[in-house]
Amino acid sequence: MTTAFTIREAVMADAEAISRLCISGFSYIHESGFLPEDLTAICEELFSTEPVNADMLQGDRFYLVLDTPDGVKGCLRMAPPSLHDAKFDRGGFELSRFYIDEEIRGGGWGTKMLSIAHKRTRSMGFERSWLHVFIPNARAQQFYLRHGYQMMGQETLHFRNSEPTGYVMMKDLRQEVCIAAPSSVSSPMDY
Ligand SMILES: CC(C)(COP(=O)(O)OP(=O)(O)OC[C@H]1O[C@@H](n2cnc3c(N)ncnc32)[C@H](O)[C@@H]1OP(=O)(O)O)[C@@H](O)C(=O)NCCC(=O)NCCS
Repeated sequence: MTTAFTIREAVMADAEAISRLCISGFSYIHESGFLPEDLTAICEELFSTEPVNADMLQGDRFYLVLDTPDGVKGCLRMAPPSLHDAKFDRGGFELSRFYIDEEIRGGGWGTKMLSIAHKRTRSMGFERSWLHVFIPNARAQQFYLRHGYQMMGQETLHFRNSEPTGYVMMKDLRQEVCIAAPSSVSSPMDY
């Protein structure tokens, strides 16, 4: 693992790099879950620099980035929940936009970023971290299971004519057993 890399909170100047990582990461994962024109449209709508800028300006969320000598190579967002099962959880916060550049995946940086995100989330007073992971993305599911997330159910997201389904996963940041009924729901896309 290269020590010249640092994980830090994102600043506005990172918006363009975050946008690039989200567009390539989201397109890579969701190729089979979206119609091609919908995938292009959702990336434009949510992940182009302008909406990322606007999202970063909201005071109730944070982004972490992985800074390297070659620029920003990873990002992660924690924000108020949008998932059906999570948005009624007043002690819950939601992880999304978690992408490490392909060339450095598997180097342990995702693990470090996730751990920092959990600590920061806990220090903000939240007790649970929620996320949605596309069903075909088995490697990411294994990653989250290894880091203490549990499968809570499935949720189908809706964007135009595309309806990707993913697992909803949750980690109790206090490391206590959390009781919640597994469910299968359907929601508009707000990712
Ligand atoms: C998931 C991800 C953020 C983890 O970061 P990382 O730095 O690669 O993670 P670490 O090196 O700490 O841990 C390695 C684990 O990451 C996961 N991982 C590695 N490459 C991956 C890939 N291409 N896709 C999904 N998960 C991957 C695996 O669980 C891997 O463990 P394994 O080698 O035993 O399968 C990163 O791999 C990534 O960007 N993957 C593609 C995008 C993605 O799936 N994001 C999550 C969306 S919910």
